[in-house]
Amino acid sequence: MIDLQRNDTGLSDYALLAAQLESLLATERDCIANAAQFAALLFNEMPGLNWAGFYFNRDEQLLLGPFQGRVACVRIDFDRGICGAAATTRQTQRVADVHAVVGHIACDSASNSELVVPLEKNGRLLGVLDLDSPQLARFSAEDQRGVEALVAIFLRLTDC
Ligand code: SME
Repeated sequence: MIDLQRNDTGLSDYALLAAQLESLLATERDCIANAAQFAALLFNEMPGLNWAGFYFNRDEQLLLGPFQGRVACVRIDFDRGICGAAATTRQTQRVADVHAVVGHIACDSASNSELVVPLEKNGRLLGVLDLDSPQLARFSAEDQRGVEALVAIFLRLTDC
């Protein structure tokens, strides 16, 4: 993997990550395998994360899927937390300070900011991708656009 902090390819970091993800998922469509690869790519290539992973929609609850980081909450109700807000609204939640959000679920008290992108295919909510950081306001609007584009690649190349 190319170190994004020393990216001298001429591509933006997200263009490079997109190319890496395309090639990583090119030969497999299994949901668990591809989600595991995607979580590992993000956790290792995006600086400043302490958690990167998936929750999948199981009967109106979010169930923990493949992730990198410390052990996490296993089930999250749709009406709880930032992940639940992403699932309910089907809108990306970009939160600069999670402690300022009523209902935030503190799986890891070290997390200070969070980006949660819903996974939606053919009108169905498949789950969410959750990224956490110990840095306040770690995720910019550019990060949001970049990660949403990566999620679109994952959904195109994966059967979940
Ligand atoms: N903080 C999240 C819960 C999931 S963990 O951070 C891995 C939330 O409030 O939805």
